[in-house]
Amino acid sequence: MLKWNNQLADNLKWTGDISNREQKELVALRVAEHVKDGQVIGVGSGSTAFLAIQAIASKVKKENLTVTAIPTSVEVALSCARAGISTTTLAQTRPDWGFDGADEVDSEFNLIKGRGGAMFAEKLVMASSPKTYILVDESKFVNRLGHNFPVPVEIDPRAIHLVETKLQEMDVSAVGLRMAKHKDGPVITEAGNLILEVRFNHIGLTTEQDLNAIPGVIENGIFFNYPVEVISN
Ligand code: 5RP
Repeated sequence: MLKWNNQLADNLKWTGDISNREQKELVALRVAEHVKDGQVIGVGSGSTAFLAIQAIASKVKKENLTVTAIPTSVEVALSCARAGISTTTLAQTRPDWGFDGADEVDSEFNLIKGRGGAMFAEKLVMASSPKTYILVDESKFVNRLGHNFPVPVEIDPRAIHLVETKLQEMDVSAVGLRMAKHKDGPVITEAGNLILEVRFNHIGLTTEQDLNAIPGVIENGIFFNYPVEVISN
């Protein structure tokens, strides 16, 4: 029988540096206030979502609540398991609500997400939730989407030339392939795909759909007009 190895589980702690940690911890505590017994909660990715899992797990323990998470990546599923929160999938149920981080938020609460490469699952879970709390520190607010970050676009590897050609017909200033940290190969998503980083001169109402209309594009990191409520300090 497979036994859970606690040493391995310890490796599941967030290992990277967390920028603006104090601000992120505050918004994590605020989202935990929304948790009620019996709820199914969509759980996004990134360091802020990770801190929110810890805040929710501690409330769940203290108040003896039962909640179930729908995680947006394997990493998030493991973080939930380690925090004692059971998980389910979108194939089984839908979330009562969800939470996630973001890389950019504009004044209309449109988002760019996907620095962690999980935007496909993040969008599936967000689109399945009546409401998603977006947890951000103040560094995430921008006047226009694309100001700080390129748009990540997940593509089937076989479509790389086709997508590159089609992007040239859009209002794009630069396209790059997301590389692994040590630049020894491309980032491969959980679904075995590549991620293009696309700089747009302008991101408009239809950019999200225009990107997804290119054959071979799985999903992109523009979240336009989703039912979100932003929690920030
Ligand atoms: C991952 C995401 C994250 O939510 C986004 O990158 C924000 O991350 P962090 O909370 O670490 O700043 O979209 O795909």
